[in-house]
Amino acid sequence: MRLEGKIAVVTGAAKGIGKEIAIEFAREGAKVIACDMAEMTYEMENVDYFKLNVADSEGCKVFFDAAIEKYGQIDILVNNAGITRDSMTRKMTDAQWNLVLDVNLKGVFNLVRYIGPQMETIGGGSIINVSSVVGVFGNIGQANYAATKAGIIGLTKTWAKEFARKGVPVRVNAIAPGYTMTDILKTVPQELLDKFAKLTMLKRLGQPEEIAKATLFLASNDASYVTGQTIQVDGGMRL
Ligand SMILES: NC(=O)c1ccc[n+]([C@@H]2O[C@H](COP(=O)([O-])OP(=O)(O)OC[C@H]3O[C@@H](n4cnc5c(N)ncnc54)[C@H](O)[C@@H]3O)[C@@H](O)[C@H]2O)c1
Repeated sequence: MRLEGKIAVVTGAAKGIGKEIAIEFAREGAKVIACDMAEMTYEMENVDYFKLNVADSEGCKVFFDAAIEKYGQIDILVNNAGITRDSMTRKMTDAQWNLVLDVNLKGVFNLVRYIGPQMETIGGGSIINVSSVVGVFGNIGQANYAATKAGIIGLTKTWAKEFARKGVPVRVNAIAPGYTMTDILKTVPQELLDKFAKLTMLKRLGQPEEIAKATLFLASNDASYVTGQTIQVDGGMRL
């Protein structure tokens, strides 16, 4: 029970990686507030659903106020919600660029701007931002997505400094998953997925549960001296 008594917000928690993180956290004793703009695909004791579009800054403020009112405080925040709108750069539209930046990058800022300072006032907390190997290595056809996932690493390092500057242990880290079997890969052709699997040292794609385990480590006190880091959970990828 590594998260006993903790209140955790997980965004994009209706399915995929976010769902596995919410389930893992609840199993470890946390009360989980699962935020998503889509309907939930599962039910679990100690996982409460809150409908939220993370790109909506006013909606995020309303959510924050409602969560503090109902749960008292937020100890853990996992910024997991993310989307792709892939295109070669020469064909990328403003709409594709703006939507991915709004959800993947501004969506993270929209919650941290409230929850980070709140963690300072309650004496600590853990923020985990879900980046991607694409933010580390880059990827053809994903300029918008790569920009957001690399941006998340910069935000992580900045917030690790900013929220700990008064000596309060607010830890901020990022997870950079490799290619992981969820719906986000639906649009990626099978031959590319096979190629990505071959590029890993473990010769396979990841499972969402494996990302959830690393996120649990960062959320828990096991990672009490880990901050400002990006952990690649990618089977040893060499892009
Ligand atoms: N699956 C992979 O291969 C992979 C690899 C690297 C990083 N990631 C990252 O992991 C995170 C989770 O991805 P996934 O693979 O589980 O994808 P997914 O598509 O299975 O799930 C994403 C969830 O986010 C929600 N979401 C999307 N936009 C939202 C918004 N504006 N507000 C609130 N919720 C929103 C969706 O409704 C969905 O439930 C994303 O940030 C993604 O970029 C995934």
